[in-house]
Amino acid sequence: MSETYEVQLTTWAYGGEALGRLEDGRAVFVPLALPGERVRVRLTEDKPRYARGEVTALLEAAADRVAPRCPLYGRCGGCHYQHVAYAAQLTAKRAIVRDQLVRIGKFPDPAVAPTVPSPAVWGYRNHIQMHLSPEGRLGFRAPRSAEVVPAEDCLLAAQPLRDLIPHLVLEAGSGVERVHLRVGAGDEVLLWLRGQRPAPPAFQVDFPLSAVYTNPEGAAFVLAGRGFLPMEVKGKVFRVSAASFFQVNLAVAEAMIDHLLEHLPLTPRARLLELYSGVGLFSAFLAPQVGELVAVESSPEACYDFGANLDAFDHVALYEAPAAMALEHLAAQGFQPDVAVLDPPRSGLSRAALDGLMALAPAMVAYVSCDPATLARDGRRMARHGYRLVHITPFDMFPQTYHIETISLWERRR
Ligand SMILES: C[S@@+](CC[C@H](N)C(=O)[O-])C[C@H]1O[C@@H](n2cnc3c(N)ncnc32)[C@H](O)[C@@H]1O
Repeated sequence: MSETYEVQLTTWAYGGEALGRLEDGRAVFVPLALPGERVRVRLTEDKPRYARGEVTALLEAAADRVAPRCPLYGRCGGCHYQHVAYAAQLTAKRAIVRDQLVRIGKFPDPAVAPTVPSPAVWGYRNHIQMHLSPEGRLGFRAPRSAEVVPAEDCLLAAQPLRDLIPHLVLEAGSGVERVHLRVGAGDEVLLWLRGQRPAPPAFQVDFPLSAVYTNPEGAAFVLAGRGFLPMEVKGKVFRVSAASFFQVNLAVAEAMIDHLLEHLPLTPRARLLELYSGVGLFSAFLAPQVGELVAVESSPEACYDFGANLDAFDHVALYEAPAAMALEHLAAQGFQPDVAVLDPPRSGLSRAALDGLMALAPAMVAYVSCDPATLARDGRRMARHGYRLVHITPFDMFPQTYHIETISLWERRR
C-alpha cells in the first residue's frame, strides 16, 4: 500500500480542490474536501513543487460539510462542491476571485462583492453535454480524465432533460461522440449530436424533439424537427442554433443583464462595442439604451442567430470575425466606443484582442468572465494600459461546481 500523509487543509484553490501543505512544504491539492478539515491523503500526483492527493480518511470534518446528493459524485467530473453547504460555496467563490486577482492580477485589495446566488441550486441547467463510452453508453467525463462514466441522470439538468436521458439509446458504432441536450421555451428539446463521420447516423425518435448532427467539417444535418430552439429571457425570445452558445442558467443570466443595465453609463448618444456577443443575448437589452452598437462574434451559427434576434434594430452592426481581426478593422475605420462589453470564452482575451481593445480606448469596460484566472491575467494587462478596477461581482451561474462567472467594471484613468 502506498504511503499516506496527514494534512491540515487551509484554503480553497481555483479548480474545486482544497489546499494544504505537506511536511516538506509543498502545496497539496485535495478534491472532495474543505478548508478547515484534517484529512489523511494518498498522493495521486507527486511533482517537485506540488502534489495532489485523494482522501483516505476524514480525520476532522468542517462544519460546512454536507452529504452529496448524486450517487455518481466523485466519479463524475461535472460537480466539485456537492459536499459543501450552498452558503459556503458562495463565500468560497468570492474568496477565490479575490485570491486570483491578488496573486495573478497583482491587485493589492480588489473590491469583490458577495456572490449573487442562483435561485435554483439543482436542476438549473438548460443544457448538458454527454459523451459516449467505448461500449456506446452515454455518460459524463470522469474528473481530470477522458474516461466516460455511464449515467442515466444528472441532478444539475432541468427536469425535461432528466426525463429524456434514460430513453436515449445510440447504436454502438454510430460514430457519434458527443450529445448535447438543450431545453428551451415551452420545454422544447433539441439534441445536438457530434461525431467523426461525414454522414449523419440513422436516427429514430419517439419523442417530440428536434435533433441535429454536425460532422467534423462543421456541416449540420437536421435529423428531426428544426435546427434551433427558442430561448426566453426577461420576456424576449431568442433563436439559438444547435451550435450556438447560450447561457445555461437563465435566472442568473437575467441577474447579470440587470447588473449591466444598472452599472453601465448607457445613454441615447453612447457608442457601445460588444465583443463575443454570441446570439445577441446582452445586445438585445443593451441596444435600446444606446445610440450605436457594434457587435463582434466569430461563430457563423451564432451570427446567423444574432441577425434574427437583433433584426428590429437599425443602429446595430455585427462583425462576423475573430475579435482581434474585427478590432483592427474598427481602429482603421476610426470607431471610438464609449463603452465596451466583453464576454470571451474561458481562455480570455488573446494578446492581439486585448491590445486592439486598448487601442480603441473605451472610457468604461464591462468584462463578463467565466474564468477568474484569465480575467486576472487580462485585468493586469488592462491596468498597465491605465484601466482601474471599479468593482467585480461573482454570479453563481454553476452551483455545485467550481466554475465562477463574474462581471467586472473597469474605468479608463486617462
Ligand atoms: C461565453 S460566450 C458569450 C456569448 C454571449 N455574450 C451570451 O451571453 O450569450 C463567448 C462567445 O464568443 C465567441 N467567440 C469565441 N472566440 C471568439 C473570437 N476569437 N472572436 C469572436 N468571438 C469569439 C463564441 O462563439 C461565443 O459565442
